[in-house]
Amino acid sequence: MRKIAVAMAKGGVGKTTTAVNLAHDLALQGQRVLLVDCDTQDQVAKFLGVKPAYGLYEFITGRNGKGEPVLKKEAVCPARENLWILAGGIKLVELKYWLGEQPRERRHALLSQSIVPKGDSLDFLIFDCAPGWDLLSVNILMAAQEVLCPVSLQAPALEGLKTFFQYLVSAQKQNNQLALKYVVPTLFDRRTRQSIDLYRKLKRLFTRQICDPIRYNVRLSEAPADGKTIFEFDPRATGAEDYRKLSRRLIDDGIRAQQVPRFF
Ligand SMILES: Nc1ncnc2c1ncn2[C@@H]1O[C@H](COP(=O)(O)OP(=O)(O)OP(=O)(O)O)[C@@H](O)[C@H]1O
Ligand SMILES: [Mg+2]
Repeated sequence: MRKIAVAMAKGGVGKTTTAVNLAHDLALQGQRVLLVDCDTQDQVAKFLGVKPAYGLYEFITGRNGKGEPVLKKEAVCPARENLWILAGGIKLVELKYWLGEQPRERRHALLSQSIVPKGDSLDFLIFDCAPGWDLLSVNILMAAQEVLCPVSLQAPALEGLKTFFQYLVSAQKQNNQLALKYVVPTLFDRRTRQSIDLYRKLKRLFTRQICDPIRYNVRLSEAPADGKTIFEFDPRATGAEDYRKLSRRLIDDGIRAQQVPRFF
């Protein structure tokens, strides 16, 4: 199973749009995916049009708001065929306090071990991280193996990127399995000089990690209001085409990683 954190400290760069559409296309390709919403904004459930009773808070603590026991399987919400979610929401504020009270080693173990299902029942565990840095985001990076960073090509500059990547390097010191695997340029508008220049810069900086850009596509911003992914809302939109390409790349990398190199 691959554990991928969709993370970027800057807000509004397309983290949730990427996590949801990528997760759904992987599920459509037959991969079994658990998408974990690590944000108090609770966007993942809204984007998918589901109303889970419980979520990540109950899954980790084993209790609901009234202190009653909740089973892990009750906290996981089926969202589509092959796709399950652990919802975020305002309860995550309490989860952060609760995590803060746990000893440091236990905190890491809580996320890295308790979310990972037994056996091989999942192919992908995808974390949709919140913007900024808080205790939960930091712990997610201790539980993940791969980081996928959406970078907006609409920002005036690559501001904040350097700090974010420096932070990743320090997280790697504590989790040596963690690797920056994908840099995904988002909100690409080929009519603007800014988009083209920023994309070029990213390609130079991240020769291995750079992915094809996700174009600016108004259909991607309309789909969540209907509780649909782009593959349900408008499968012929450029947004669908771009996210399909991204999920193919992830699947292909997985296949390559499993192949034993042949020397003869
Ligand atoms: N390629 C795109 N084309 C057009 N609109 C997009 C695209 N990607 C994302 N958006 C829109 O941009 C806004 C921000 O996207 P999203 O919520 O995915 O970002 P985020 O990084 O998760 O934000 P936050 O940091 O607040 O969690 C949303 O309204 C979304 O619909
Ligand atoms: Mg988000």
